Amino acid sequence: MMKKCILILNGPNLNMLGSREPEFYGDQTLGDIEKICADQASKLGLSIDFRNSNSEGELVDWIQQSKNNHVAIILNAGAYTHTSIAILDALRTTNLPIVEVHLSNIFQREEYRHVSFVSQVADGVICGFGSQGYKLAIDATAKLIS
Ligand code: DQA
Repeated sequence: MMKKCILILNGPNLNMLGSREPEFYGDQTLGDIEKICADQASKLGLSIDFRNSNSEGELVDWIQQSKNNHVAIILNAGAYTHTSIAILDALRTTNLPIVEVHLSNIFQREEYRHVSFVSQVADGVICGFGSQGYKLAIDATAKLIS
């Protein structure tokens, strides 16, 4: 039987992890985080489809397509978290569980990061735990789909 697959989406500038503002985001690359996710998912008998885009439209396309191919969405929408009604609307088109992740604690940072459109439809939010947050998000997702 095919393993259930979680769509893990990473928005703009997350491709720069490793060198980007390590005081907020740590020193692991997005590739390192993908490996953490793959290992954790496999422990739980799940698979992952791990993607990154700097483009809002591409993220919207992937979210729209997810309902046919995936069992849940883990989303770090980067700065689009705080601006994108298009991503919120796309998320509303799926019935899938949604877990929102941020590496940094967005509530300790600038006020414009305190607002999240994604949170309106997320089952839960994990922020401030760095790359470990993705592992926690997979655990939370496994529970949501069980
Ligand atoms: C982020 C937080 C956002 O405010 C920021 O724009 C990012 C990364 C995080 O993972 O902490 O790009 O989503």
